[in-house]
Parts: sequence; C-alpha cells; structure tokens
Amino acid sequence: MNAPATLLYFDDEQAAAVRLAQAAGLAPMPVARHRFPDGEIRLRLPDALPERVVLLRTLDHPNEKLVELLLAARTARSLGVRHLTLVAPYLAYMRQDIAFHPGEAVSQRIVGRFLADLFDAVITVDPHLHRVATLAEAVPATQAIVLSGAPLLADLIAQRRPGALLIGPDGESAQWVAQAAARHGFDHAVCIKQRSGDHAVAIELPPVALAERAVVLLDDVASTGHTVAQAARLLLAAGAATVDVAVTHALLTAGALQMMREAGVGEIWSTDCIAHPTNAVSVAALIAQALQNLNRSGG
Ligand code: R5P
Repeated sequence: MNAPATLLYFDDEQAAAVRLAQAAGLAPMPVARHRFPDGEIRLRLPDALPERVVLLRTLDHPNEKLVELLLAARTARSLGVRHLTLVAPYLAYMRQDIAFHPGEAVSQRIVGRFLADLFDAVITVDPHLHRVATLAEAVPATQAIVLSGAPLLADLIAQRRPGALLIGPDGESAQWVAQAAARHGFDHAVCIKQRSGDHAVAIELPPVALAERAVVLLDDVASTGHTVAQAARLLLAAGAATVDVAVTHALLTAGALQMMREAGVGEIWSTDCIAHPTNAVSVAALIAQALQNLNRSGG
C-alpha cells in the first residue's frame, strides 16, 4: 500500500508540515482559516481529498485548536475521507487524569474520547501518561500511537555533554530518563517533586554524587519552568558544574526562559513538537516512520 498522499496543516504550522511532508513523502495542503470579528472561525479544506488523510495539529494552546479539529475532521469526512489520522506531536490535557476534588473534570478522558470520535488514528510524542499505562486508555481511537523524543534528545546530549549525569526532576520523568540513559550509558537518577500550585514546586534531590558533574535535566514538558528552575538551583548548590535542560515539549509560558536562566540553567534543548527557539532536534523522521508503518498495516 502507498503512503497516504495528503497532509493537511494550518498556516501557523507550515514549517513543521513541510518537514513532515518531506520526511513522509506526503503532499502538504493548507486548511484555509478565516477568523470573524466575533472570534468564530471558518475553515476551508481542499475539496478533492484522497481516502486517507493525515492532519497535523500540535496541541499547545489547545482550546481553539480543539474546535478547529472538530470542524476540520467532520468536513474531511463529508468530503469522502475514510481514514483520518491526527498527528499531534504535543497532546494537550493529558495531565488531568483524575478528579482530585469532587466535580472536577477528568480532562484526559474527555479530550481523549473527543479525539477518538473524530480520528481513526492518533499519533503523538511523549504524552504525559501518569496514572494510565497506555495512550489507548486515554485516547480510545482504533490506533493510538506513542513515539518518544527521549532517544533524539539522548543523542544530542551525547554529542554536546558526553558523560553527562541525567536527572529527571520528578518520578514521572523516570521513564524518559531511563530510556535516554540506556541508549548512551549515562548515569541517571530522579528527584522527588511535590507541586502545591501552578507556580509552587518543592524538589528533593536524589542521593547521588553531584560535585563537578555536568548535569542534564530531562523531562517531557517544561511549562512555567518552575520544575526545572528549582531543580537547577538545588543541583548547582549541591556542586554540579553545569545544568542544562532537555525537554520534548517546550510549552514555556511567558517568563519561563528568563527564570530558568536566572536559576543557572545553561543550554535549553527541545524537540520541534512545539515550535520554539530552543528546538534542537526534529521529530519529523520519527513521525514519518510511524505514518509509513500505519499505512503499511492498513490501520
Ligand atoms: C509534570 O509532571 C511534567 O512532567 C513537568 O514536570 C511539568 O509539567 C513542568 O511544569 P512546570 O514547567 O510548570 O513546572
């Protein structure tokens, strides 16, 4: 079976779409978008679409994008698309996986079901799965495919900081840290983190020798930057020679980079799952391979 021919994308993701289209041998086609003065949007898809279509939409700043996905996917179906794959390199709302208080929305389950109703296949990179074991539990699409940016970041770290000590800032990062460490034989450990608010984290360092070590903090996401900033302060105070940061998803809200720098972080490397000046490695080839496998399997 041939690779799916068409990659739909939105204009703000043109660069990522071109990289993916080139890697996967797809024809990139933009979804035209008009914003009305009242904030509503109108989308227009190419009217001649093949039976299998891939839609690229990374889901940082997700709220409006979820409406775009609803409109685009339903329109694609009405135009005859039979198999629709969402490539969302960053998958939003995965962290709210439990109701911590009565009445709280379990966003992971709700958004996951919403996407599964629209798409046959969902491909993402390092989704934040904490209390569920598989993406299929959160996004029950026919195919729910997880890729990882950790090996790509590990290769970069091996070039830039050979002999680094990899540290995960919390228990959830252990999966990515272990994967990256195994690839290049890095020493590794994880911290214990307690989060008491959006901007309040307490971190306990692991009991490992830090003196004069080049430490790289590795995590799936940096958002406000408080997690890595606090970890960096403690690591440097404990004698680490340098602290750099590698993350799959550079959400990095306003002020995050500056705070991380002021905490003593040196380099900050991210994948291009979310376009950001810190992007240092591309996931395009990884996603292209997954699309080819999916297409070959007919799923
Ligand atoms: C949560 O456990 C994630 O892995 C990240 O550590 C967290 O989302 C980072 O958030 P922030 O940058 O706001 O501290």
